[in-house]
Amino acid sequence: MRMMSVLKAPVWALELATGAKSFIDNPILGSRVLNERGLHVNRVRLAQRMSAWRRRRLAHLVSPDEQAAYAREGFVVRGNVLPADGYAALRAEVDSTLFDAWEMRQGNAVTRFIPLPPEVLTHLPHLRAFVTGAPFQNTLKYVASTAGDPIVYLHVVLTVPDVGAPDPQTHFHSDTFQPTAKAWYFLQDVHEDEGPFTYVPGSHLLTPQRFEFEQQQSLLAASHPDRLHARGSFRISREELSLRGFAQPVSFAVPGNTLVVADTHGFHARGASLRPSVRIAVYGSLRRNPFLPFTGLDPLLLPGLAGRQGQLHVQIMDLKERLTGKPTSHRHVGKVRVAEPARI
Ligand SMILES: [Fe+2]
Repeated sequence: MRMMSVLKAPVWALELATGAKSFIDNPILGSRVLNERGLHVNRVRLAQRMSAWRRRRLAHLVSPDEQAAYAREGFVVRGNVLPADGYAALRAEVDSTLFDAWEMRQGNAVTRFIPLPPEVLTHLPHLRAFVTGAPFQNTLKYVASTAGDPIVYLHVVLTVPDVGAPDPQTHFHSDTFQPTAKAWYFLQDVHEDEGPFTYVPGSHLLTPQRFEFEQQQSLLAASHPDRLHARGSFRISREELSLRGFAQPVSFAVPGNTLVVADTHGFHARGASLRPSVRIAVYGSLRRNPFLPFTGLDPLLLPGLAGRQGQLHVQIMDLKERLTGKPTSHRHVGKVRVAEPARI
């Protein structure tokens, strides 16, 4: 064990300069002594500064109003993204296609992931135009503060409230210590009782209360009983949010054809679904090394790799399952229609 630590120490040290976030897997990041001296909060602060610097260079990608909305709230919302006939055509195209899908169960919710590599999109001109188009790509890049290649899926959340444990994603949390972007373009109306995305406005900023929260969590995170918290996705209860003076959460019960892009370093959760529901969205996620002094040079944008991250992700998990014999969180379920009931 000691030998292992000696061998791994340089790797742990190098990880300080990356997006590594786990307090339990990296003893340097998890060190109480170092975090008492400000290691974690200084990483948070530097990541914010570098991110703000890069984001200024990407300001041309969104409107001044959207820049202001992001700065103030931590999210950008755009309604009626496509003209009505374009939206209807995109819906018809998605509804009438059989897609190769992977599913993951978390409590009473199943998330269906449908990768959209170029060979799938080539048969779906409306979906391809949206996924590669300016509203989706540019807003993601601006919020993520990088012009890298996002991971993109058709993303379906199927919830049956009375079956199984509560969905763990209904707990408020921050995805990681650095600014990071997630986007949902909803392909049908999302109602308040169907588990809408919920976000604490302004919680993406390193305000004095966020600084204090980060500092306190960093001292205890390595031994926190919640594994996700220990891995650097800090959990926070509704009560603690209001005790610490954060804003009231807002929920995105929005009509179809709305794009929501949020910095999920800010606190967010999936609202509880009070009735069986199916939420369909084009989903994108974009996060790179927080300390990069440039916005481009993403190797994943090289010819042959661009637009393939979703596919690569599920393929790697399938391979892992075959090699280890242990089931992974995502299961290939074959060809499905986008809104059909869960198969796992
Ligand atoms: Fe999250």
